[in-house]
Amino acid sequence: MIDFCMRGGRVEGAGKASGGRSWSLPARRLPSIGEVLSRASLRDRRLPEDLAEVADIIGASRLAALLATVVSPPLNRGTDITLYGERLRMLSLAFKYAESEDVPGDYAEFGVWRGRNVIEAWRISHKYGIRRRFWAYDSFEGLPELSERDEGGPFHTGHFAHGRNRFEARLHRARVPAADVIVVEGWFDKTLTDPSRPAPTSIALAWIDCDLYESTVSVLRYLTPRINPGSILMFDDWYTFRADPDKGEMRACEEWLAEHPGIRIIPWRPFHFAGQSFIVQRTGR
Ligand SMILES: C[S@@+](CC[C@H](N)C(=O)[O-])C[C@H]1O[C@@H](n2cnc3c(N)ncnc32)[C@H](O)[C@@H]1O
Repeated sequence: MIDFCMRGGRVEGAGKASGGRSWSLPARRLPSIGEVLSRASLRDRRLPEDLAEVADIIGASRLAALLATVVSPPLNRGTDITLYGERLRMLSLAFKYAESEDVPGDYAEFGVWRGRNVIEAWRISHKYGIRRRFWAYDSFEGLPELSERDEGGPFHTGHFAHGRNRFEARLHRARVPAADVIVVEGWFDKTLTDPSRPAPTSIALAWIDCDLYESTVSVLRYLTPRINPGSILMFDDWYTFRADPDKGEMRACEEWLAEHPGIRIIPWRPFHFAGQSFIVQRTGR
């Protein structure tokens, strides 16, 4: 157990976890859990200098747990911190890029599951003082029926089913204001073609995490009139299906580009073991 409390802008701790010693750190020096995880290798217990003094007292893994408790919902026991850190790093760089290049539009995530990525995207943007709207698209019933094309991979129908109420409760616990995130519930082939649904006019950052070919086809069609030069497309599953270009997100994207010769996507950064981001270039509409 880690005993700590927030007092006057400081986080103070004491008790068993710190070997009976008390410690205190200005809250502003507690970076987000993502920053810690991407900057620190917890396995070999190396930490950035500004955190080393606390880690010295309470231990690196306890520090990570403390930070998680203060700034994030607790990490699942099984969470792989490398994957987690890589996603957060990607999000941070994308927000930074969109801001520094003045790319217009909102953040849209296609496939939100339990909401972890949406929460982190919101946190990162707020940390930088960036105000963009957040759009969260999901069936909340998991993956749809798999087409033949998507068979043989790691996915199955109903995979990632997670009720909308649980998604919203998690955002609430993470103190993400409900008004900041517009949830569009339903199957993409319906919701993304329905003009009566609320929709962003421009999207600067698209996190495409719907795993399958058919789902990605719907998403890319939806994005077509909404992306601009500099918009960032982050495909979370670009290299799944053993990077078979005839499957999944890669296939959908290749077809989409062939249909829209005015759109080019410039490879930007790979992230974790399967993700790839691109920056959009386009001429005309
Ligand atoms: C891998 S999970 C998303 C993970 C999430 N982005 C995260 O980082 O925690 C994939 C999600 O895509 C959703 N999904 C996939 N295809 C869909 C479709 N055609 N319509 C609606 N939701 C879909 C599933 O319901 C599932 O929640």
